[in-house]
Amino acid sequence: MKRIVVLISGRGSNMEAMLKARLPVDIAAVISNEPAAGGLVTAQALGIATAVVPHRAFADRTAFDEALAAEIDRHQPDFIILAGFMRVLTENFVARYLGRMVNIHPSLLPSFPGLHTHRRALEAGVRIHGCTVHFVTPGLDSGPIIIQAAVPVLPNDTEDLLAARVLEQEHRIYPQAVRWLCEARVQLGAAGSVSIIRASATIGALVSPSPDDRIF
Ligand code: GRF
Repeated sequence: MKRIVVLISGRGSNMEAMLKARLPVDIAAVISNEPAAGGLVTAQALGIATAVVPHRAFADRTAFDEALAAEIDRHQPDFIILAGFMRVLTENFVARYLGRMVNIHPSLLPSFPGLHTHRRALEAGVRIHGCTVHFVTPGLDSGPIIIQAAVPVLPNDTEDLLAARVLEQEHRIYPQAVRWLCEARVQLGAAGSVSIIRASATIGALVSPSPDDRIF
């Protein structure tokens, strides 16, 4: 069975979705850079080992990343799952786990990398928003994409309403992506390409707002 380590900084709802998805994986540990992360309590309640590597205790990013890598490697994971892990990682750290580390981002990348994605989506007036699971490469939120889910932006949306709609989809697509990884059905290719072996493909479209029944 493949081993995974999940990195969190806060609430940990994606981590919880991962833990509850009953994936055929061994969840070796949940590691947080924030000692007060709510997700640590959730993980412990589910019987998963936890560790804290508090970034504030280190002089710089390099020192923190080295300590984090040491903690990760102690668990000998096949894959490293970033789930709301709010630290920018150094190039060395990213290179060490290239092709083995994935992240979830609350937007349809490459739109809205960085923070406050839901607010920015509302400000931009997009009709469709969503979330993305991608391999982690040195650029922020710019790694090769594995899976995305799209949701409509509705007329009376607030940031919170939109965030909740997207989060529901995050909880669907992230365990799916990790399952594909662990079953060796998705791989990062040399030129940054991503290949996915799927049993079948659905062809459909999300159109938002919905078009009238009779367009012509
Ligand atoms: C999620 O929206 C995730 O996409 C982003 O940070 C949020 C973390 O939420 N990277 P949670 O800690 O998984 O509940």
